[in-house]
Amino acid sequence: MPEIFINGQSVQAETNQTVMQAALANGFYIPYFCWHPQLSIAGNCRICTVQVEGRSWVEIACNMPVSEGLHILTDSDLVRAHRKATMQFITLNHPVDCGICDKAGECTLQDYHFAYNGSPSVSREPKVHATKYHDLSARILLDNERCILCSRCVRFTREISKSNALGIKNRGDVSLVRAAEDSPLDGDPYSDNVVDICPVGALLSKPFLQKARVWYLQPTPSVCPGCERGCSVSIWHRKAQWRLRALDPAQNTSIARVTPLENPAVNGPWICNKGRDLAQVFERPRADHALLKGKPVELAVAIAAARKLVGEARHAVALVSSWGSNEELAAFKTALAGRFTTFVKRDHEAMPGERIEDDLLIRPDKNPNTAGARAILGESSTGEPAFPADTDLVLVWGEGCNFARLPATAKVVFLNSYLQPENGHADVFIPISIQTERAGHYTNFAGVVSRFERCFAKNPSVADAQELFAGLAVGTAVTS
Ligand code: SF4
Ligand code: SF4
Ligand code: FES
Repeated sequence: MPEIFINGQSVQAETNQTVMQAALANGFYIPYFCWHPQLSIAGNCRICTVQVEGRSWVEIACNMPVSEGLHILTDSDLVRAHRKATMQFITLNHPVDCGICDKAGECTLQDYHFAYNGSPSVSREPKVHATKYHDLSARILLDNERCILCSRCVRFTREISKSNALGIKNRGDVSLVRAAEDSPLDGDPYSDNVVDICPVGALLSKPFLQKARVWYLQPTPSVCPGCERGCSVSIWHRKAQWRLRALDPAQNTSIARVTPLENPAVNGPWICNKGRDLAQVFERPRADHALLKGKPVELAVAIAAARKLVGEARHAVALVSSWGSNEELAAFKTALAGRFTTFVKRDHEAMPGERIEDDLLIRPDKNPNTAGARAILGESSTGEPAFPADTDLVLVWGEGCNFARLPATAKVVFLNSYLQPENGHADVFIPISIQTERAGHYTNFAGVVSRFERCFAKNPSVADAQELFAGLAVGTAVTS
């Protein structure tokens, strides 16, 4: 463990660390654009320069190995002068369109200009213009005038997603990031991570383009239910204090964007594009009315009817949701498992064209909590559902049920969140809340338990499954 000194303070660095890593790990901030903890070192932006005491020049901290007794200055006059000159150079041809840029509020170029430069451009030359709003892929726009050529996006596609989809062509002030001609970026299921890691507003997410200013949004910690990896994500939605009353109130309860929430035990700093598109899952038309054989009834009436069917059933089978939280599954087990032969179904299967599995994150089971269900309800519950001849009640919880396979004579109680024709065919249909309307935990394929928080209030006409299960069991004696 080499001892180094940063601004005169002793720091125990790890062997093989760089000065950048040792400084950040010990509470000293050194600015960086091109360096990223998960990518190779490019050393091209030069904003991370520091001074070794006694030397009359500066050097980049991101590529300087620590060595015993090294004395580093991160804020000397020389360092400050060099950072200011670097910022002047980087912004030489930058359009400074922060007022219309989606990155405003999260942009390190803005922050560093304020912290290390703060002066108008000294250049007397007109700015060199480049392509604005270049279509990089179906999901990503590129503004070359904002690009500072840090090459993070290029290295991401080479080193992390391995699509090799991006490169830089030309030299000097006409250098441009461009997609490879056979468009592998469109087929890269991790492509949108480049939007996050671009330190400026050059790479823009088309679904989020000019949709919201980030200071009106808040991130709620959540878990992506798109596969059994269960990546930690932030679901961004409008802050309560910035609720829209007239313009478009639907925005108050909609998902503006989804970004990775760094979790070394699950997904590191990345997620796949499916995780970005959770709004397409959660914002499908919702079922918000209870039904008895297709006729709308009050929620309490439907719950009472379901409770009666549960109480009368001689042989009941439950098809349990693999999107249920650990809390909901435990509530089901406590209240009802003794009355049902239970099977955990796959609520979702892979969509056509979706990547099934890879070495980075994507897992074959496209449901978030199969492992949690198996742990709570037992291995036997994860087999193929079987319906004995005397089955007289089937409780279906969640999506993915092939209703044609249910015994024709059995009554059906269906708990679901979305509008589907089967809702109206069930003897009792009870609408239930979705993940963004409640808190809970999922257990991923490797046994890591992750918590998701509530983003929005649920409609009062919709039940929470966790409470519902206790309600369905009230007054029904367990016979087995
Ligand atoms: S587009 Fe962004 S991430 Fe890519 S090189 Fe330019 S500034 Fe860096
Ligand atoms: S890898 Fe799976 S859990 Fe992670 S973001 Fe993609 S779909 Fe969601
Ligand atoms: S962060 Fe060190 S050169 Fe860019």
